Amino acid sequence: MTHFARIVGTGSYLPERVVTNAELEKTVDTSDAWIRERTGIRQRHIASEGEFTLDLAERASLQAIDAAGIAHSDIDLIIVATTTADQVFPSTACLLQSRLGVHGCPAFDIQAVCTGFVYALSVADHFVRSGTARTALVVGAETFSRIIDWTDRNTCVLFGDGAGAVILRRDNAPGILSTHLHADGDYASLLQVPKGVSNNLSSVQAGTAYVEMAGSDVFRMAVKTLGRIVDETLEANQLAKTDIDWLVPHQANHRIIAATAKKLGMPMEKVVQTVAEHGNTSAASIPLALDVAVRDGRIKSGDNILMEGFGGGFTWGSALVNW
Ligand code: UT7
Repeated sequence: MTHFARIVGTGSYLPERVVTNAELEKTVDTSDAWIRERTGIRQRHIASEGEFTLDLAERASLQAIDAAGIAHSDIDLIIVATTTADQVFPSTACLLQSRLGVHGCPAFDIQAVCTGFVYALSVADHFVRSGTARTALVVGAETFSRIIDWTDRNTCVLFGDGAGAVILRRDNAPGILSTHLHADGDYASLLQVPKGVSNNLSSVQAGTAYVEMAGSDVFRMAVKTLGRIVDETLEANQLAKTDIDWLVPHQANHRIIAATAKKLGMPMEKVVQTVAEHGNTSAASIPLALDVAVRDGRIKSGDNILMEGFGGGFTWGSALVNW
């Protein structure tokens, strides 16, 4: 018997505090016009002091569980994609498991930065397809604002905080049609936080472990690589570009998103864009955008949805889903 994984519920959460471009104009040498023109971003949500990745993940998960109409005890796998875990350990997934009152099922974090959600979805899909799990909670959650140098205009205007979640259920029909994951660590230095637990912990404690990015190099690679993964995904499923109903991309920059849409020959009305309101929320950006388009009724039963992401590592990946 072949099993498939279907997304049966989505949820998301954004911190209350909104930081506009105008606000950033007061603290760094930037302008609303530059940020809008080069990135498409108008504002981002930033977690308040005392609000953590786990809190965001919990809010998004509760919404997804509610939308799926399942009991917490139905969940038999929890995967959280995050770059900004609250603790070195336990994993955010284990802490979330406790918050949700779930016991005993496997729970672990995945770290693939902006591609994290696609990685997590792919792993959960394999668990469900193999019959190892029946009901999986997959979350992308970030407080990226905590690893941003708010005096660096090259990075601070780009990122925001948030969380998105989906519930996957085993089904006889797809569901997730295919997932495609890639990485190339040779590009690590172009997009990184160069400090970590075993490398200069004191600088992490002092709050100097920040995102560093060679923006235009990353931009060029993202456009090229995402174009390739679109082809790979369509080919694997023997589908034509016209078979895709919605593109739900990672939300880093509206120009990168537009380039991928162009590659698909897709009008921008068929692209779910939240970058203007959310900024780049790393692993949270795809499930956040997905939840917006599900809740506003754009995504309908039977639609083919292409999700794709690119980020630090470099990592990149895609998921093709029949809704
Ligand atoms: O999510 C993970 C993957 N990340 C991405 O995909 C991000 C990819 N990169 C990008 O989205 C874009 O490269 C950026 C938005 C980061 C930058 O846009 P760009 O068109 O590539 O600009 P640039 O880096 O080539 O910089 C152009 C100019 C520079 O000034 P000079 O050297 O030409 O005088 C920058 O110093 O823009 C300047 N600049 C800014 N000016 C005003 C850089 N940041 C700012 C800023 N405000 N915030």
